[in-house]
Amino acid sequence: MSTINVVSMLLLFLSITSAFACDWCAQQTKASFFSSPGPLYVGVCGYGAVATQLYNGYIAAASPALFREGDSCGSCFEVRCKDERLCKKEGVKVIVTDMSRTNRTGFVLSKEAFMALGHDGLAHDLMQHETLDVLFRRTPCEHNKNLSIRVEERSRGPNHLTIKFLYQGGQTDIMAVEVAQVGSPVWQYMSQRIGPIWSTPRAPMGPLRFRLVVTGGYDGKWVWTEEEVLPVDWKIGELYDAKVQIKDIAQESCCPDNSYRERWR
Ligand SMILES: *[C@@H]1O[C@H](CO)[C@@H](O)[C@H](O)[C@H]1NC(C)=O
Ligand SMILES: *[C@@H]1O[C@H](CO)[C@@H](O)[C@H](O)[C@H]1NC(C)=O
Repeated sequence: MSTINVVSMLLLFLSITSAFACDWCAQQTKASFFSSPGPLYVGVCGYGAVATQLYNGYIAAASPALFREGDSCGSCFEVRCKDERLCKKEGVKVIVTDMSRTNRTGFVLSKEAFMALGHDGLAHDLMQHETLDVLFRRTPCEHNKNLSIRVEERSRGPNHLTIKFLYQGGQTDIMAVEVAQVGSPVWQYMSQRIGPIWSTPRAPMGPLRFRLVVTGGYDGKWVWTEEEVLPVDWKIGELYDAKVQIKDIAQESCCPDNSYRERWR
């Protein structure tokens, strides 16, 4: 790793802690729902049709403020509505696949997720509301799959590589990604396009392995993939198992004294 890389990684570690200081706090917002699932399928995060299989279709578009310029792609949130007469106390767990256009509602939920906020049998009553007052907080994602890497269509081999991370577990953000040929100590950094999508025009020849910096504990943490993730002849559109699972939870120092925020329970 070059000196510049070391310095920028250190700066990264230092900036991480402050940026996510209150994920554990419940915050208040409004939630609405998509009457048709279309928009979530082609969401800004670029999951495409895969989005519908994530979290059994409990997916959501986050407001621009909560979307954090794409860092919230693939993040999971617990959402529960405040009307105890209508809604279950435990709420629902959703995963962000898209950005909505307005900050007035923190989340636009898939219809399935919205209906699941309500007590059994009250889905119809719930749907009469265009928006609901909700509490939400970030929560670790659970996938019963390993972190996986999909080679995206914009890749133009052999050096131009664009990848997308899928099934990122835990409650962390990927802050940096590097790729190397198996057996080589030379790491090439990748640039984040949006959320889970990273690319480089200078990918080494395969087979390829990866290492990532994720937020975890109070600072960043390296995650190394298995020796070979992409084979020599990696193919566009293929999904490759990175054979690791990210389970870390970034530690938080909650809660600032701010009346806008509420305790979850
Ligand atoms: C939403 O809020 C964010 C941050 O508070 C702001 O940058 C953005 O411009 C707002 N977007 C809209 C559409 O109001
Ligand atoms: C995840 O990777 C491990 C190897 O690290 C492998 O043994 C396991 O079968 C994989 N799990 C899944 C769900 O594919």
